[in-house]
Amino acid sequence: MDSKKKAARYGRIYEQLAQLLKKSNNQLAHKATIIAVLHHKLEYFFWTGFYMLVDGELVVEMYQGPVACQVLAKNKGVCWAAINQGKTLVVPNVEEFPDHIVCDSRSKSEIVVPLRNPSGEIVGVLDVDSKELASFDEVDAEWLDKILQLLNEPV
Ligand code: SME
Repeated sequence: MDSKKKAARYGRIYEQLAQLLKKSNNQLAHKATIIAVLHHKLEYFFWTGFYMLVDGELVVEMYQGPVACQVLAKNKGVCWAAINQGKTLVVPNVEEFPDHIVCDSRSKSEIVVPLRNPSGEIVGVLDVDSKELASFDEVDAEWLDKILQLLNEPV
C-alpha cells in the first residue's frame, strides 16, 4: 500500500479507536479492540497481537490470526530485540533477522512496537506480521505508536 493511502487509512482507524475506547475504562477491552480494528482494517496484517512481559517472560496475550507461539524464548527474535533496544523494529525480511522466532512460516515481514505504561516502562510489545516482504515502514511505526498511546490516556 502506498504511504499516502496508508497514512489516510491509519488516520481513520485512529479516530475510530479513540471513540471506541471511550466506551469502557477496561485495559483488556481496549487492547482487544485495538487488535480487532487493526487486523480487519489493514489487509496486509496477517498476525496482529500483544506479547506481554510476565515474570520476565514474553507471553502472548490477545491476538488475531493463526495460532501463535505462547511464550517467546528469552532474548531471541524480533520481539525481545525491540524490548532490549527500547525501540520499534521494522523487519523487511524476517529470514534475514538473526534468531527470528518462526511461529508461522507464512510470515515474511514484521513490525514490533514497544508498549509502555504511564511511567514509561516497557510492559510488552505490539507485534504485527505480514505474508508479504517489506510491508511495514515509517508510517506504520508512527501510527502504531500513536495508537498504543491511546492505552495510557485517561478515560
Ligand atoms: N516473530 C516473532 C515471534 C512472534 S510471532 O511473529 C507471532 C519474534 O521473532 O519475536
